[in-house]
Amino acid sequence: MYYAHITGWGCAVPEKVLTNADLEKMVETSDAWIVERSGIRERHIAGEGESSATLGVQAAWKALEVAGVRPSELDLIICATSSPEHIFPATACIIQDKLGAARAGAFDLSAACSGFIFALQMAAQAIRSGALKTVLVVGAETLSRLTNWSDRNTCILFGDGAGAFVLQASRQPGGVLSAVMRADGSGASLLSVPAGGSRQPATEETVKAGMHFIHMDGREVFRFATRVMGSATQEALAAAGIDLAEVRWIVPHQANARIIEAAARFLKLPLDRFVVNLERYGNTSTASIPLAVCEAVEDGRIQPGDRLVLVAFGAGLTWGALVAEWSGPFSAERRIRPGLYRLWAGIRSFFRRLSRFLESLVWGRKA
Ligand code: UT7
Repeated sequence: MYYAHITGWGCAVPEKVLTNADLEKMVETSDAWIVERSGIRERHIAGEGESSATLGVQAAWKALEVAGVRPSELDLIICATSSPEHIFPATACIIQDKLGAARAGAFDLSAACSGFIFALQMAAQAIRSGALKTVLVVGAETLSRLTNWSDRNTCILFGDGAGAFVLQASRQPGGVLSAVMRADGSGASLLSVPAGGSRQPATEETVKAGMHFIHMDGREVFRFATRVMGSATQEALAAAGIDLAEVRWIVPHQANARIIEAAARFLKLPLDRFVVNLERYGNTSTASIPLAVCEAVEDGRIQPGDRLVLVAFGAGLTWGALVAEWSGPFSAERRIRPGLYRLWAGIRSFFRRLSRFLESLVWGRKA
């Protein structure tokens, strides 16, 4: 039997920071209101040339470096995102090319802010079944590109960033222990980008009406979130056969401090058992959980052997929780040099494009 261990982690955020004071100049709001109602003080916003894939690639290199895994060893890349580069191709394929992960399949997973948990569970199941050995899971977002910067109900909440985990197979028990994934599509309209898909293709009218931006019924989403965060945690723990008292850290989706406080009350846990960093990043959707985990690992809060619950909710509606025993890299001695692989990936991608171009010339002449 195989277990799926988390052996590498990495995060990336854009340099540019947008504070509540900056937002005060853009919409009718105040730092006091935003902090009191959400807990958010600032968020990172993608600059020109940055996108979900560029942030995802940065996070992925860091995760590969920590794990000591070469891109060519990856069997699969799953990118959970709500702000993909395109409707298609998948952002995961763009990441695959940039990494030069020649053997890896790649696809995107769309489950909004619950996406990172769903993707981890899919990766873990593939590893546990024995089908795959090494999987990269990325959560990458540039929600700022879908934000209506004149809508104060939404523009104060979201931020950009990416996080990535490497999962590897081992016969040693540990790693991902259980997960629950849930959905309720009857609440689909509560949080959505209404236009730009096949249901309502982008037209001049939809753009004028701002239907290509995030639309949200904040109060309803809030109510739903407070209902499911605690119960999903309990369900995942029951599936793993683990008691809440054995859990070192709860890492919740970083959407709103009041939602996290409600989950803490439901579970009768003190807030200091939760990893919270939303005051500096806002809601980065699929990137929020890996961003919080990365920080807590790097500052020493999360240690190998610690049991964690990752728990999230999001558009769909979707929600889920995952229980894991933190592993760390299989071999701290195994070093890879991302710079060299980056160079190799660039050369490989260039020659692939060139050969496709030459092939099209030859076929063009024959036709
Ligand atoms: O990953 C999932 C993503 N979504 C979420 O997590 C959203 C969950 N919901 C929330 O986090 C909260 O509902 C918000 C932070 C979005 C809003 O907080 P709230 O306490 O639910 O406020 P509200 O929507 O009930 O609005 C209260 C008042 C309203 O005024 P009236 O109708 O009482 O006169 C709003 O118009 O606050 C007003 N308001 C604002 N005032 C200043 C709404 N947004 C703002 C703002 N600044 N940015």
